[in-house]
Amino acid sequence: MATDRATVLVTGQLPSSALALLGDVDVRTVDGTTNRQAFLEAARGVDAMMTFVTDTVDAALLDAAGPALKIVANVAVGFDNIDVSATRPHGIVVTNTPDVLNGAVAELTWGLIFAIARRIGESDRLVRRGDWHGWAFDFMTGMELAGKTLGIIGKGRIGRDVARRAAAFDMRVVFGGREAGGEVDGHPVFAIDDVLAMADVVSLHVPGRPDTRHLIDARALDLMKPTAYLINTARGIVVDEAALVEALRTRRIAGAGLDVFEREPVVHPGLIGLDNVVLLPHIGSATVETRTAMAELAARNVAAVLAGRPPVTPV
Ligand code: GLV
Repeated sequence: MATDRATVLVTGQLPSSALALLGDVDVRTVDGTTNRQAFLEAARGVDAMMTFVTDTVDAALLDAAGPALKIVANVAVGFDNIDVSATRPHGIVVTNTPDVLNGAVAELTWGLIFAIARRIGESDRLVRRGDWHGWAFDFMTGMELAGKTLGIIGKGRIGRDVARRAAAFDMRVVFGGREAGGEVDGHPVFAIDDVLAMADVVSLHVPGRPDTRHLIDARALDLMKPTAYLINTARGIVVDEAALVEALRTRRIAGAGLDVFEREPVVHPGLIGLDNVVLLPHIGSATVETRTAMAELAARNVAAVLAGRPPVTPV
């Protein structure tokens, strides 16, 4: 039976609290990531889409959707999965979920810092293998964080939340930006190359865009101290993974903690066998609280646009 209710396409499970915010709509669900053809077919005629970072939103999908589509609400702060320029001619609004995930990503960033600096992953594997033969004075020694320098690349909200937590661990914070000078929340801003050279822990907090692709390449890794660690909870393409494998293998840097990869879910095979890297499956925002807040914010964006109001968090 024909209905004048709007149709919202969702590409995976969302909490009921988020779906409730959509109001009186028809919800259509499809797995947008693994079955492209089904995604294109399910998109036909929808008024709104709620998508994840693993869903490719491009001109072909927008064409398949047709003229009713008013909003693509990404349930993520990053929107490198969306060809925003292709949405503009159609007047389609694109929204993301900034701020609500800052704390969760900052906490996971610190988790990776501890895990790599204190060799937690490596130690856990050793115990499970049955290779622990007793306490020893110089066994599994790592790097103490207190008194060391944390270099944050990027001056955005997540990096600032990571920096705020550094005080608890007595670390000095410096920020790295395209332009040196000034301060962020009382911490000095240096050129990225200078931060790479001075930091004991380098943490990446920039979006995944053509201009940040391989920001950390062999040259950048070469600038780092041999005792330093690289942390990436931003986007995989920011790091040249092949160059990182080489730097870790040759101990050009001490180690790395990675939550994101260049070709997710594929992990560079050279990383798998290395003990001086911690590998996580892109779980930066994966707390129940934050994922719920992200879905609810995305739903509020959809509800606003369908009601003819401005979106809450347009990109
Ligand atoms: C996750 O990676 C996000 O961008 O929210």
